[in-house]
Amino acid sequence: MSAHIRAIRALEILDSRGTPTLRVFVSLDDGTLGTSSVPSGASTGENEAVELRDGDAKRYGGKGVRKAIAHVNETIAPRLVGLDPTEQSRIDRLMIELDATANKAKLGANAMLGVSQAVARAAAQACRLPLYQYLGGAGARRLPVPQMNVLNGGKHADSSLDFQEFMLMPVGAPNFAEALRYGSETFQALKRLLHERGLSTLVGDEGGFAPALASNEEACQLIVTAIERAGYRPGEQIAIALDPAATSFFEKDRYRLTRSRQGEKTSDQMIELYRKWVDTYPIVSLEDGLAENDWKGFQALTAELGGRIQIVGDDNLVTNPIYIRRGIEEKTCNAALIKLNQIGTVSETIDAIQLCRKAGWRYVISHRSGETEDAFMADFAVAMSGGQIKTGSLCRSERIAKYNRLLEIEAELGPAALFGA
Ligand code: PGA
Ligand code: ZN
Repeated sequence: MSAHIRAIRALEILDSRGTPTLRVFVSLDDGTLGTSSVPSGASTGENEAVELRDGDAKRYGGKGVRKAIAHVNETIAPRLVGLDPTEQSRIDRLMIELDATANKAKLGANAMLGVSQAVARAAAQACRLPLYQYLGGAGARRLPVPQMNVLNGGKHADSSLDFQEFMLMPVGAPNFAEALRYGSETFQALKRLLHERGLSTLVGDEGGFAPALASNEEACQLIVTAIERAGYRPGEQIAIALDPAATSFFEKDRYRLTRSRQGEKTSDQMIELYRKWVDTYPIVSLEDGLAENDWKGFQALTAELGGRIQIVGDDNLVTNPIYIRRGIEEKTCNAALIKLNQIGTVSETIDAIQLCRKAGWRYVISHRSGETEDAFMADFAVAMSGGQIKTGSLCRSERIAKYNRLLEIEAELGPAALFGA
C-alpha cells in the first residue's frame, strides 16, 4: 500500500467502570486516522498478558495508565513510523520483540493492543474497506449469535449469585437483528418479572440485573419464565449460556458457594450440578464451569457433557495458543473464549482462532466487563466467522455499541449476510 504510518499517540481515557484505559490514534501520511480503545477485565485468568497500570496511589487509586501511554508514544511509535499499516503481523511482531517478555509485562498488553487495533483500523480505512472485510476478506459475512448476559453475579455485581453470568442465546432467530429483538424483549420481560417479585432491577457491570435471589439455580428458572413471558420457546428459540467464572469462588480445593449459601462442592459435585441443570434447563453453553487450574476437572466435565453442550474455556486458556494447544490435547473443553486483550495483539488472537478451527473447536469472540464505546470486537467477530459473540446485556451504551455495529454490518451485507454458527 502507498500510505505509511506517520504518527502514533495514546491518550488516557476512562472505561465503563470509570477506570483509566488507553485510546490510541494512528495517523497515516495520506491523512487517514485510525483509533481504537482497550477494554479491561475484572475476573481475569492468572496467565493473561499483563495490563500495565501505574501503581501511583495518588492517581486513580494506582490504576492510571500513563506508563503504558508513554510506552506507546516513546517506545512503540518511533519503531513503527514509516511502516505500511497493512503489514499487521509484522507490526505486531515488532512490538512483541520490543517488549521481549513472555507476558507483555514490559510494554503492557494494553499499550500493545491499543496500537495493534488502531493500526488495523487505519489500514482498513486507507484500503476503503469496512474493518470486518479488511480483517476477514470478501468471505466475511457471518453475523454471530450473541450470548447476552442478563443476570450478573460474582465479581461483576453485589448480587447473591456466586455464578457470574446467566446469558440468553437466541439460537432460533433467523438473523442478527431478530436475535437482538428476541433478547431485548426477554430482558424487558425479565425486568417486569423481577419488579413483580419485589426484586431489584439495578444492573451490574455488564448491564445484567443483579437481584438478591435465593440460589444460583433460581436465576435459570427466572430466565426460562422470562423467555416464555416474552412469547418465545425456551431451548428452541432462546437457549441459556452460563459463565459461572468458577475460578472466582474456588479456594483450597473446594468450590465455595458462599454468597448463595449453598455450601461447598468438590469438582465432581460441580459437574453433577451442571449435569442436573443441563437435564432441567435449556443450557447450550457452559464457560468456566470449573476453576482455571482444575484441568482434570475440566477433562471430566468435557467427557460428561461435551457431547451435549459447548464447554468453553476462558480463564484457563486466556486466548493463548500455548494453553489452547494443551486444552485441545487433553480434551479440556470443546470451545474457547477469545478476548483480544488476554493475549495483546490482533495477529496472536487470529493465531489462537486458527488453532481452534484446526481442532474443530468453536470459538466465541468476547468483550470484557470494563469496556469502552469502541466496537472493534464486533467487526472482529464477523471477520473471524465463528458465529458467536459475547458482549453483555441489552442496556448500557458500551455493550449496545457492539450490537448496533453488528446491526449496521448486517444491513450493509443485505441478502449476503449469514447468521449463526
Ligand atoms: P472479565 O469477565 O471481563 O471481568 O474478566 C468476563 C468473563 O469472565 O468472561
Ligand atoms: Zn468468562
